[in-house]
Amino acid sequence: MRRGVLAALATLAAWPALRNAAGATGGARPDGPRPAAADLCANGTTFDTPLPLPGRDGYMGFFPMTQPFVLRAGPANGTPAPLAYAIAHAGREWRNPILVAESGTAIRATLANALDKPTIVHWHGLTIDGANDGNGDRTASPGARFDYAFAIANRAGTYWYHPHPHGITAGQVHRGLFGMLLVVDDEERALAKALATTLGTTDVPLTISDHRRAAPATYAPSDADRQMGYLGDEMRVNGVARAWLVVATRGYRLRVLNAANARTFRLAFRGDDGNLLPFMLLGTDGGLLAHPVACRELFLGTAERADLWIDFSARAMGDSVVMESLAFDPMHGEPHPAAHAGTLAGMHGQGGDTIAHGGEADIHAHAGKTGAQGGGTPTRAGDAPRQGGPAAAHGGATIASADAAESTIGDGARLSLLQFRVRERVAASPAPPATLSSLGAPRIGSDDAVPFRLSFAKSRWRINDRVFDMRAEPVVVPRNTVQTWLLRNYYTSMPHAMHLHGFSMRVLARETSPDFVAALAVDDKGRLASDLGVKDTVLVWPGESVRVSIDFACAFPGPQDYLLHCHNLEHEDGGMMLRVRVV
Ligand code: C2O
Ligand code: CU
Ligand code: CU
Repeated sequence: MRRGVLAALATLAAWPALRNAAGATGGARPDGPRPAAADLCANGTTFDTPLPLPGRDGYMGFFPMTQPFVLRAGPANGTPAPLAYAIAHAGREWRNPILVAESGTAIRATLANALDKPTIVHWHGLTIDGANDGNGDRTASPGARFDYAFAIANRAGTYWYHPHPHGITAGQVHRGLFGMLLVVDDEERALAKALATTLGTTDVPLTISDHRRAAPATYAPSDADRQMGYLGDEMRVNGVARAWLVVATRGYRLRVLNAANARTFRLAFRGDDGNLLPFMLLGTDGGLLAHPVACRELFLGTAERADLWIDFSARAMGDSVVMESLAFDPMHGEPHPAAHAGTLAGMHGQGGDTIAHGGEADIHAHAGKTGAQGGGTPTRAGDAPRQGGPAAAHGGATIASADAAESTIGDGARLSLLQFRVRERVAASPAPPATLSSLGAPRIGSDDAVPFRLSFAKSRWRINDRVFDMRAEPVVVPRNTVQTWLLRNYYTSMPHAMHLHGFSMRVLARETSPDFVAALAVDDKGRLASDLGVKDTVLVWPGESVRVSIDFACAFPGPQDYLLHCHNLEHEDGGMMLRVRVV
């Protein structure tokens, strides 16, 4: 993909933090993925901290949701982060508990807000009524409580919970407020039996989050961070950086949650010989696949979950295996291949379909403005100028280079996440059965797809050209219909992890995917391994259109309000979100 210098400069100037993506030269990028922005902690990482494993209480301890409980959101005692969700029950304490529930059970929970800001808990991935969803319409004020009563209608899967107060979600999550929620059913128990796994030892929940080593307790986004997402330089797994885990020569089930604010991971496992190990994908956001799928790598966008099986039985004693994020091109602000300086094209693969792209005029306006402000000299992200007045409101006047800052590593850089140390010899474990669950093919509604365009204009990320407004007309969906939605990302964009509350999505097809995504397709619809499962969050790459089917079966009387938004939390807070009302 060649591009002219003029086009490159016009785009670069228009996008804060874009220099981060395109590299220091700002010139043409060779075809294919660029080299990693930083190989920091890739090789030669010292893994010096034992991985915290969930137990019967404490940090990430398992808490059965069988009786009413109070979840206190507040300053943390003893967690790695400044904030935590805490439960005190029967003389024991949990922090960021892994909530466990049987499918079909009734839940009674109370949020107690011990923060100095409003908050609310959203149960990510669960199908519950709008009032209990935690969609941010109602929040608990500081010192107040919020009561939830709902039933778990979902099949077994790895769900999660986190704050959702409009406009201030990112900082609360980043400072430690999130936890996993596991739903269990007969299929799940059958698989655990077949694989001889035990939750907490050979079935390991792993949360990945992204922090700034220099100031891990602080969430202080610059204007550029607000636009592109808050990236750090220290990946933490289960709350700790440079973690290691001793494993035996058998298979392990890993349930990985991308709890980072903005970073996409390209997960892979590398042995001491430098080669990648094969692994299997067992499940996605909403539970088990029908059949395991062999993988060597897997993209995991923000909020997505992957249920993986990795077998260490062929490893020698003393070997290690590192869970990495491989380098990739994050495609931030890529110019359209057909673009010239004057006409930054809109959507890729749109044929004659004209779409108003408010961004173009704006991009040129910014290009002029930024030129006047110093010709794109990179500024450290940490001290990007703060400006009052209209310039700051438009955000476009600030150019920051995340690469230049000590406290961030660019999206798409290679990272080491967790080291497995093979130190115990045991009998090999069974391989995953050919059939994991009874998951069927997606139901398909009408062929007319409802389009959702993901774009950037006037310094804001938008869905169908709009920024979130609580009073705006929602997207209305008649209950008990099956709809096809088409999530279309502009070419000059960045990856967006699109999340729907209340209902799950089944991916039908990926169209006009970037080459390195298309290369991972497992069928002629362009679908990826993770697209074969039940999804509540779908990563949509620049230039790509993802066709999803959604069954709006709704058992709750009256209109129910949900949300569709990008799960890059800075994009969500910035209003890349709209309300979906099921009537
Ligand atoms: Cu996990 Cu509306 O979010
Ligand atoms: Cu959600
Ligand atoms: Cu986004």
